[in-house]
Amino acid sequence: MVKVVLNTDIKKGKINKNIYGNFAEHLGRCIYGGFWVGKDSEIPNVDGIRKDVIDALKELKIPVLRWPGGCFADEYHWQDGIGPYETRPRMVNVHWGGTVENNHFGTHEFFKLCELLETEPYICGNVGSGTVMEMRQWIEYMTFDGESPMANLRAENGRKEPWKLTYFGVGNENWGCGGNMRPEYYADLYRRYSSYVRNFNGNSIFKIACGPNNDDYNWTEVLMKQAGRFIDGLSLHYYTVPGNTWENKGSATEFTEKEWFDTMKKTLRMNELLTRHSDIMDRYDPLKRVALIVDEWGTWFDVEPGTNPGFLYQQNTMRDAVVAAVNFNIFHEHCDRVRMANIAQAINVLQAVILTEGSKMILTPTYHVFNMYKVHQDAELLSLNVETPEYNYENESIPQVTATASVDNEGKIHISLCNLSPLKAAEIKCDIRGSKKTTVKGTILTADEMNAHNTFDEAENVTLKAFDGAVISEDELTASLPPMSVVTLELI
Ligand code: AHR
Repeated sequence: MVKVVLNTDIKKGKINKNIYGNFAEHLGRCIYGGFWVGKDSEIPNVDGIRKDVIDALKELKIPVLRWPGGCFADEYHWQDGIGPYETRPRMVNVHWGGTVENNHFGTHEFFKLCELLETEPYICGNVGSGTVMEMRQWIEYMTFDGESPMANLRAENGRKEPWKLTYFGVGNENWGCGGNMRPEYYADLYRRYSSYVRNFNGNSIFKIACGPNNDDYNWTEVLMKQAGRFIDGLSLHYYTVPGNTWENKGSATEFTEKEWFDTMKKTLRMNELLTRHSDIMDRYDPLKRVALIVDEWGTWFDVEPGTNPGFLYQQNTMRDAVVAAVNFNIFHEHCDRVRMANIAQAINVLQAVILTEGSKMILTPTYHVFNMYKVHQDAELLSLNVETPEYNYENESIPQVTATASVDNEGKIHISLCNLSPLKAAEIKCDIRGSKKTTVKGTILTADEMNAHNTFDEAENVTLKAFDGAVISEDELTASLPPMSVVTLELI
């Protein structure tokens, strides 16, 4: 039995909607084939952007989209991606398969995409191989309103009005693909580059510094100490990578219970990382002005057999869905510090919410979890105490159930519960304190097999269903969660 106490009158902070952000890199088929097909494509599109993808992502209310990388960002020279297509240089995408990047998707196309999705752009600038001047001019190009070389160039390229840009990253993984820097060196570069990320005409930019990889606590320490007062957000990258080595992460679809358990154990580590990085940040920033931005997270498995290893294309199963829910529950718990997260990546790459193949598109189990959890966007986190049995595998154990609850601005209460065990159901008994609720309704995502997934032939194998396994009576909610399930309930 899982014993839960929900205090509907104890609020613990706002769940920033940006936790439900996505990430789109020039990698494999994320941009080209995923978002972008070009204006002349037979695939229905709006100014070159796939219509089916726009409709599917709008349904999720994606609040923010990070672009153009990733490792690609520190190789990207934005001036290559503006002007007539025929004059845009063709370059090699060195990080991701050595393919030709024709630069047809650039700044104007990205802002158009954000406009169509009604999402906030989050642009990552080039510190690793770009100049301060280049970064400064990009900001001027995007946001300056008036007479200036970059504003004039933007107008020549068909856009008179500046765009509104809030989120800007000063480099990506500068401890690795973004220049292999030491934190002391990057902290100084951050101070210098970010000085020229100007606020033109009242546009106010939220500056995001490259933060740590996984448990590199020294990186956080040095950045906060040497540059903290210039930083609005510090990024963290943590991927759920099962297996013992990068060469052997295991298949996305063919895996054992051991690999399922290992994946869950590794994904739960997100909580420890957020706690420990936040503790360091608290010492330099006790008022929590600086946000922790998990701008790359998700599962990373071996690529699908026969696909380009540089494209990071993987299928997405019920295991990914549970991973997504577990991470959302953790992000909510850290909502005082974690104010944005961006799953890697939106389409056709790593833990994608959408997969495409030519003109076909499917929604992954992860997509359905985003859909189910959107009710928590910008809601107030509620106090929820969960006493759960453990899920044991060999000599190790993890919690069988994780959960979260929130109240939105219309007073609607939502509880999301996730059963991590692929074998055992979970019986939930929840005391509801602080208000009277009489009705419950909900949705569920579950499957009979750990590796259940959607394919281009069977697109609805794993999909949201109405959930009728919950009952409310006398301030008590009971529910029965099938093995490997994610449920969101609304209490009325
Ligand atoms: O998301 C794939 C890659 O993972 C990104 O380009 C990089 O930032 C990270 O190492």
